[in-house]
Amino acid sequence: MTERLEDIAAAMVASGKGILAADESSGTIKKRFDAIGVESTADSRRDYRELLFRSTNAMKNYISGVILYDETIRQKAADGTPLVDLIKATGAIPGIKVDAGAKPLAGFPGDTITEGLDGLRERLAEYYKLGARFAKWRAVIDIDTTRGVPSATSIGSNMHALARYAALCQEAGIVPIVEPEVLMDGAHDIDTCYEVTKAGLVKLYGELYAARVKLEGTVLKPNMVIPGKKSGKTASAEEIAEKTLRLFRETVPVAVPGIAFLSGGQSDEEATANLNAMNAASAQPWKLTFSYGRALQAAPQKAWSGKAENVAAAQAAFAHRAHMNSLATLGEWQQQLEKAA
Ligand code: 13P
Repeated sequence: MTERLEDIAAAMVASGKGILAADESSGTIKKRFDAIGVESTADSRRDYRELLFRSTNAMKNYISGVILYDETIRQKAADGTPLVDLIKATGAIPGIKVDAGAKPLAGFPGDTITEGLDGLRERLAEYYKLGARFAKWRAVIDIDTTRGVPSATSIGSNMHALARYAALCQEAGIVPIVEPEVLMDGAHDIDTCYEVTKAGLVKLYGELYAARVKLEGTVLKPNMVIPGKKSGKTASAEEIAEKTLRLFRETVPVAVPGIAFLSGGQSDEEATANLNAMNAASAQPWKLTFSYGRALQAAPQKAWSGKAENVAAAQAAFAHRAHMNSLATLGEWQQQLEKAA
């Protein structure tokens, strides 16, 4: 029997849990491995991801789902068990990244368009058979106000593609994570991030309605409202939380069950503190959780550094970040820190 989309989506944002984004493309995981001096091979990628999925307590207690890359959803653990089965055994839901990456948008220097719609119906059917019950598609919106980036054309094309992807996912019995990421790399201030993110979300929900996507069976994966890294400005967790929540109340329908943030290059601690500040604020109509890649994995990658004897330390580092972010989904991270001090 096919599970109901709204039940899968609700499980993805269950209280105290969040999503592990382990869907780095071959190029991205190579960059991460280069930083820790590990050669990126099919086996080293498998060994690393296997250690995460075998972090049984962390997975059981804090992780609702795992986003995989095409290679990983087909891979087997060293003992021959499919990695998907390791994930399922912890109670977490396997998911799959299905976009084919952001490419330059013709005619709009500095803007990108995410590709991957061709053949998507057939790929989703295969991923469903391989065990995926949710998917991810990432639209990438950069900000460079000196040259009119992002253009309205880029926002429109990317949000339209997200809606076409989401409709195909739901047809296949798969919950779409819709990810319209506004990058935090630019020189913009926090209010520019607010305005650009708002333009994206307004367009996104218009397109999702037009595509007849059932919002109850979706999860939003947005950026936080945050100053660009090159602006030289910082903002407190309280300001980030206040502005991010104000924006969502303006733009995200309450039919959406949950919002699972990307970390986007924030430090581990910032990503936790900002999520905590949002959940410690007044009650919201959606669950607010994490779908972190770097903010969950930077610590275990460093601890592991490609050595079998470091697996336990890497698992402990992953469990710690997952626990801290779990507390942040409940707004209890700060109290816990104060108690520990
Ligand atoms: P980060 O948390 O590292 O931004 O990655 C999340 C993700 O899946 C981006 O698409």
